[in-house]
Amino acid sequence: MNFSTAKNEIMHLLSRVDVKELPKVIKWIKTSGELDDCFNDNEKIILRGIAKDLRVCLPMEAMFSSESFAIQKAQQNPLPLVHVDAFLYDEDTVDVLCEEGKMSRYYCLHCGSHRTAPLEFISHSFSTGELKYIFRHVLPDLTGQMVVDVGSRLGAVLYGGYLYSSAAKLFGVEINAEFIDLQKMVIQKYGFGDRVEVIHADICSQVNLLQNADVVVMNNVFEYFLELHEQIRAWQCIRHNVRKKGALLVTVPSIKESLTTLQGKKDSVDIHQWVEELPVNYNLYMGKDGDPDAFKDIHLYRIL
Ligand SMILES: C[S@@+](CC[C@H](N)C(=O)[O-])C[C@H]1O[C@@H](n2cnc3c(N)ncnc32)[C@H](O)[C@@H]1O
Repeated sequence: MNFSTAKNEIMHLLSRVDVKELPKVIKWIKTSGELDDCFNDNEKIILRGIAKDLRVCLPMEAMFSSESFAIQKAQQNPLPLVHVDAFLYDEDTVDVLCEEGKMSRYYCLHCGSHRTAPLEFISHSFSTGELKYIFRHVLPDLTGQMVVDVGSRLGAVLYGGYLYSSAAKLFGVEINAEFIDLQKMVIQKYGFGDRVEVIHADICSQVNLLQNADVVVMNNVFEYFLELHEQIRAWQCIRHNVRKKGALLVTVPSIKESLTTLQGKKDSVDIHQWVEELPVNYNLYMGKDGDPDAFKDIHLYRIL
């Protein structure tokens, strides 16, 4: 069926709906989420393709054994913690894996009993829904702008920014060489090289990039990956070099929360003279793509 036949059929169908029922039908079309699968955008299809390519290159928890500090830290959590990368595994994929018994959302409180509790999931990447939300709804038009993703890992922010924004250039800086190789593989396969570049480095060695960035993205960068004193050093570097007036900083969680985990050392980074927080619309309806709880962790700041 071509576009004009489909359009005519939909108009014909709507004209036959009882007028009293019509508002209900329109509301259902707009908000129910049952039609979401029909409205998959091209960008989302590409991102799903990338996730599929990456899944086969990584173990299910999407961590490399070289990340010994992060693995150790997760093991110290008082409750069972499962790494599920939200970019690689969307809700539907997790459901399928649970049905196949390859993953579980629950753990047993007493072995052998039916008493179970939900497992705590941790993701080291943004989901495709969060990427669309950030680049289409949180950030303004990025035409001609330079974006830096601090700790680019699988490259999700770079691919999302390439597809959902007009940013002129997107740089990813990642300290782990194995993730740099994966990002390079994707950039080459999907032809993102005209606007995306990745650098294998500690962000603290990239002061030029930080000083020239129009947008800096920081998704849980340091907490799980660096010792406390290294986190303080890295935050101080960000504080002193992300300083282009009017530049934007997107963080998860809020800067205040990240600094609180630095315990008594949080005063070593003074944020009041540095940034102002900007309002973000957390109530946006994004159908199946949107998890309002996850959106609430996304914070936007402007450099003063
Ligand atoms: C939670 S992941 C963020 C992934 C990605 N930005 C996203 O949102 O999908 C954080 C990444 O930061 C990297 N990282 C930690 N400290 C770093 C540093 N000092 N310089 C560069 N990368 C760092 C880690 O290796 C990890 O891959």
